[in-house]
Amino acid sequence: MSNTTARKVIYDTDPGVDDAMALYYALAHPGIDVVGITTTFGNVTVEQAAINGLYLTEIAGKNIPVTQGVKTPWLKAPGTPPDFIHGGDGLGNLPSRVPTKSVLDPRPSAQFIVDMARAHPGEITLVAVGPLGNLATALKLEPKLPQLLQEVIIMGGTIDEPGNVSPVSEANIWNDPHSADFVFTAGWKLTMVGLDVTHQLILPLALFKKVADHHKHVATDVLHHAVAFYADFYSGVYPHVAKIHGCFGHDVLAFVALTNPEMFEVQSGRIRVALDGAGNGQTMMRRRNIFYPQPGWGDEVPDTHVCMNLQVDAARELIESTLMSNWL
Ligand code: BDR
Ligand code: CA
Repeated sequence: MSNTTARKVIYDTDPGVDDAMALYYALAHPGIDVVGITTTFGNVTVEQAAINGLYLTEIAGKNIPVTQGVKTPWLKAPGTPPDFIHGGDGLGNLPSRVPTKSVLDPRPSAQFIVDMARAHPGEITLVAVGPLGNLATALKLEPKLPQLLQEVIIMGGTIDEPGNVSPVSEANIWNDPHSADFVFTAGWKLTMVGLDVTHQLILPLALFKKVADHHKHVATDVLHHAVAFYADFYSGVYPHVAKIHGCFGHDVLAFVALTNPEMFEVQSGRIRVALDGAGNGQTMMRRRNIFYPQPGWGDEVPDTHVCMNLQVDAARELIESTLMSNWL
C-alpha cells in the first residue's frame, strides 16, 4: 500500500550495486513512495538493468512498474559496462536467482516519465542515479517537464573532488555528457549529489551483514552479496576504504538528500559539462557572479544546488537504521 504523505519518486537507475542499495533505502523509508523505476545502460546494459529492477523489487515483495530506457549515450560512442565494479550481472555475480514473474511496463522509460509527470503535475520527484539519457529524452518529448516535475535529484558529477573515471570526471556524467549538459541547463529545481559528498561516506560491508542477519530475507541477502563484491573493488582501489573494508554508497545519498537535506552543505551555481577532449564529462561550476566572455555561462543557464559537504556519521546511521527498519 502506498503511503499518501510520502514523496512520489520515479527512480531512474542502472542497477548496479549502489543503485540496489539506494532502491532498498527508498523502499524502506516511509517518506518515499517509489511510483516507478526507469532503467538505463551504465553499470550494465539496459536489458540487464531492467531485469535487475524487476528482480530487486519482486524479491523485496514490492509491485512497482519497471521500464526499459536508453541503450546508449545520446551522441558519444557506447562503452563497455564496468563488470569489475558491479559484476557482469550488476549485482556482484549472484550465484543464482530465485524465479520471478514480473514483467516490464511496455513503455520506454522516457515516455513513462512524461506520462507520470503529466498525470501528477508538480507531485513527482525524479531521482536519477545513472547516465542521464532517459531524462534528456523525456525532456525532448515534453519541453514543459521542468514545470511538471516537483524536483530532480541526480547522483553524478564532481566539483572539487577528483573524478572516478578520469582526473576530472564522474562516471554517470562521463557516460553521456551531452544528455547531462542538456539536463543541467533545462531549468528544473535540480540538486547534484556528486563525488564531493559521496566520497566522504564509506559504508562498511559489516553494515550490510548486520542488515542481512537481522532480516534473514532474500532481498537483504542479495544486497549483502552484491556489496561484498563492490567493497572488494573499492577496497582494492582506495587504501582508506580498504581499512574499513567498505565502499562508497554513491546513489543512496541521492535519496538521503531527498529525505534529509539538512545533512548536506549546498552551494548554488551554473553547471556545464565538458563534451569532448581530455576533460570529457567534467562538471564545471560557475560559483562566483563574475562576467565570462565565453558563451554558455550567461543568465540562460539556471543554478544547480550542488552538495559539497555531508554529515557523514548522521548519514551512515540513517542508512543503517532505515535498512534495519521493518520494511520487508
Ligand atoms: C556512479 O557510477 C555508477 O557506477 C554508480 O552506480 C554511481 O551511480 C558513481 O560514479
Ligand atoms: Ca548508478
